[in-house]
Formats: sequence, structure tokens, C-alpha cells
Amino acid sequence: MQPKITVIGSINMDLVTEANRRPEAGETVLGKQFSTIPGGKGANQAVAAARIGGKVTMIGCVGEDPFGKELLDHLEAEGIIIDNMESVPGVKTGIAAITLAEEDNSIVVVPGANNLVTERMILQNEEVIANSDAVLLQLEIPLSTVVNAAAIAYQHGVRVILNPAPFQKLPDKLIDFADVITPNEHEYEELIKDYSGDLNKLKEKLVITKGGEGIVYYEKGTEIHVPGHQVEVVDTTGAGDSFNGGLAVQLAKGASFADSCHYASAVGALSVTKFGAQSGMPTDKEVNGLLKNGNKEKIE
Ligand code: RIB
Ligand code: NA
Repeated sequence: MQPKITVIGSINMDLVTEANRRPEAGETVLGKQFSTIPGGKGANQAVAAARIGGKVTMIGCVGEDPFGKELLDHLEAEGIIIDNMESVPGVKTGIAAITLAEEDNSIVVVPGANNLVTERMILQNEEVIANSDAVLLQLEIPLSTVVNAAAIAYQHGVRVILNPAPFQKLPDKLIDFADVITPNEHEYEELIKDYSGDLNKLKEKLVITKGGEGIVYYEKGTEIHVPGHQVEVVDTTGAGDSFNGGLAVQLAKGASFADSCHYASAVGALSVTKFGAQSGMPTDKEVNGLLKNGNKEKIE
């Protein structure tokens, strides 16, 4: 049976410029290439989950503009249920201005319509949430909506996976409602900085993603490190999202926490081998290939 995943989150058009390096403040550099590619943490996670076999419903907002239409068409082409998406006149679809430079990427996100994913939408979609095997949340829509969505999922006994990105301080109750929280290293530092609750209890919910170094999670207080797969890195945009999509599907299928982490780690690794947030996101077959053959597996 296909696990039912509901993603409540952002959808952006990524405006990607490639340059040899990022400009300093006040400086102009000549870039090499410009592309518009579907992105947004919510949509990326939805696509990752759908590619590996999840039955994915996305709840979110676009503006009634050309980017919005293109993004909805794209989600549909990926097999994602978009009946619960809203297209709002008079607001702009979310965008991310991404600079890919040799050293690293930098991203400015302008949420636009993503800010209109409100509690009203969550209440309207309570049944969809209640009927899910897992709900996947990130922080590119209003935090109050994320808390509300997590509360409703929790009330219905639906597993909540929270990707705390881009980082905001999490209300204690949001931490309580979440079954799994997936910060990167930087978000992890922020998360524990002023956390006043029981840190050991929090750690049991955490999977920390560390880019090429792999991931860390905790089992009965012991830190477990799953090393990253050796892959050729083309574009790391969306690697965390791929991990989250993979994790949600495996947990929703009833796989163990450890197995789900291993699987998700392979999803993330494969995603960085191609340009764009979503283009490298693998199928279940490709993930199993990497898990079976280790780093030798080459994905075309
Ligand atoms: O996580 C990567 C995503 O973050 C990009 O696709 C961009 O849209 C930003 O939201
Ligand atoms: Na990629």
C-alpha cells in the first residue's frame, strides 16, 4: 500500500544564477547562467516523497501568476495531489533567489503567497490531515500555521515530521507535537541554545543532517552516526528536503527509525548529483541500488 503523506508548506520558483563567486557587498560580478526551476522546501519534500512511492497531497498557496501556474502544473506532473492547493489573486508566488558559486550557495527567499497558508486552510483540510500516515512540515509558511497543523495531526494520532528550516525558535508545544525533528547542524545549535525542556527527551526525536558527513540520531541516549555516501556533488540545493521526503515515506510505511534514516540518507545523497533542487531526486529503485551497491552505484 502506498503511504499517504501530506506536505503542508512552501512552494517557490527558484531563480538560480551561477557565478564563479558571490559578489561582495556593493559589487557586481558577471554570472555564467540563469535558470528558473521549481523549488520551495514544501514542494521539494513533496516531490521527493512522491518519486519514491508516497501518495502525496500538498497543501499550500501560490499567487495567480505565471510562476504559480507553472509550479502547480509541475506538482501535478510529479503525481502529487493538488486539489487542496490555493491560487490567490493579487499576491506573488514565492520565489528563491539562489546564487550558486564555487564555494557554496546562498539563498534569499521571498515567501509571497506562502504567507497565506493560514490556520483556516488547516481547519479546512483537517480530514486530509487526519487520514494521512505522516504529515511533513517546514518553516517557510507562518509559524502559527505550522503549530496548528502539528496540533491537528497530533490530535488524530498522525505522525508529524518537522524540518525546522529556515530556522525559527520553536514553541515548546510544537516540539511536543512533533515525532521527528530534522535540523541541520546549524539549526541544531540554534534549537538547543535556549531549549529549557528535557534535552535527552528532545534528542530522541532528532535526526541531524550534516551534509556530506551524513547524519546523526540518538538511540536510548547513544549518539549514532550514519556516514554519508560518496557521490559526485553537482548541486546541494534541496538535499535536506530530499532527506525529509525519504524519511517521511519510510516512517509512514512502518520502517524502523534506523532503517528510515539510512534510506533517507541515500535519497539525500542521490539528490545532489544533479543540478536543481528536484532534478536529482531518486526513485525507490535508485535508492535501493545505492544502499545495496554502496558508492559504486552510478545513477544516470
Ligand atoms: O531547501 C531548498 C529550497 O529552499 C529551495 O528550493 C528554495 O526554494 C528555498 O526555499
Ligand atoms: Na540537486
